[in-house]
Amino acid sequence: MKALILSGGKGTRLRPLTHTTAKQLIPVANKPILHFVLDQVRAAGIDDIGIIISPETGASITESLGDGSRWRARITYITQDNPAGLAHAVKTARDFLADSSFLMFLGDNLIQGGVADLVREFKKNSPDALIQLKQVKDPRAFGVAVLDGDRRVVRLVEKPRDPPSDLVLVGIYLFTPVVHQAIDRIKPSWRGELEITDAIQALVESGDKVEANVLKGWWLDTGKKDDILEANRVVLDEYTGREIAGSVDDKSQIVGRVVIGPGSVVANSTVRGPVVLGCNVVLENSFVGPYTAVADNSKLVNVSLEHSVILDNCYLFGIEHLEDSLIGQNARIIKSANHRRALRLFVGDDAEVSL
Ligand code: TTP
Repeated sequence: MKALILSGGKGTRLRPLTHTTAKQLIPVANKPILHFVLDQVRAAGIDDIGIIISPETGASITESLGDGSRWRARITYITQDNPAGLAHAVKTARDFLADSSFLMFLGDNLIQGGVADLVREFKKNSPDALIQLKQVKDPRAFGVAVLDGDRRVVRLVEKPRDPPSDLVLVGIYLFTPVVHQAIDRIKPSWRGELEITDAIQALVESGDKVEANVLKGWWLDTGKKDDILEANRVVLDEYTGREIAGSVDDKSQIVGRVVIGPGSVVANSTVRGPVVLGCNVVLENSFVGPYTAVADNSKLVNVSLEHSVILDNCYLFGIEHLEDSLIGQNARIIKSANHRRALRLFVGDDAEVSL
């Protein structure tokens, strides 16, 4: 069994961050989403892993994952020249996949509990394909599945206006090699992409056995800003312990589940968990409230902040209350002491500033 992790794509919904960072490397709880995906794939016992990358962000992905030895895995990088759809990504990986069954995992998705049980179910029942589904309130933005009973898939539709069920495809699939013939039979959709949903529908139509598993735990799809904040909240809630490596002065208070990385300095500040501060973070005269992650080398002075993600090497000064924010690397947000009415902004392309 192999795994194929999709880490190409355009990431348009996360611009401007995705002008400089691959969206799969955006951290939640200070760890890139893709690293969680690798952990989950390895926990399912798969060590032969192909990673789809794009020409634009591929180098940052290869730099971050290396040869996979950190996960005791063998990684093969496969460049997809243009993001022409999930089924196109599988087509691009055909040589790597050869005649192996495989787990396909979108590199910006995470599910509670990982994929080990799903892989076990696939091996036990031997369907031609097994798809992970999740019940959602509004299925219109997703691939939607109709089941006969609780497992057999009878129909799939991509982004239906009038959804035939509330079960949507979660970015995690198991396939036998018959999927390659199905992909050869499908045509690009109205948005010009080879859709994996259409390939699975083609399997259903040709009488292949397609089964589904409905996820009970959480599912995180980190395609947009608020999804990242939600992923950060859920992951901090579930995984954060209390681990204080940096220094905390006696005028500061650290409450609850808080991780403070080595080299970090907390002075005259309050941190109320769950919170993760990376390495060499400086916090002075500040309050950091629940569900916040501050990445390495960032400095916050006279700031009050909660429910936010601050990436590496940022400088925030004099911000009375910041919440629900996602701040990209190297950003500087400064309120000057002689602040009057006027705001002074130096804002990059595609930025969003809510005042
Ligand atoms: P999407 O989030 O559907 O697409 P996208 O990354 O292009 O983002 P946006 O819609 O904001 O422009 O992709 C899901 C995952 O699959 C994501 O990790 C990127 C990856 N992917 C590929 O590797 N190749 C592709 O051709 C596509 C469409 C996505």
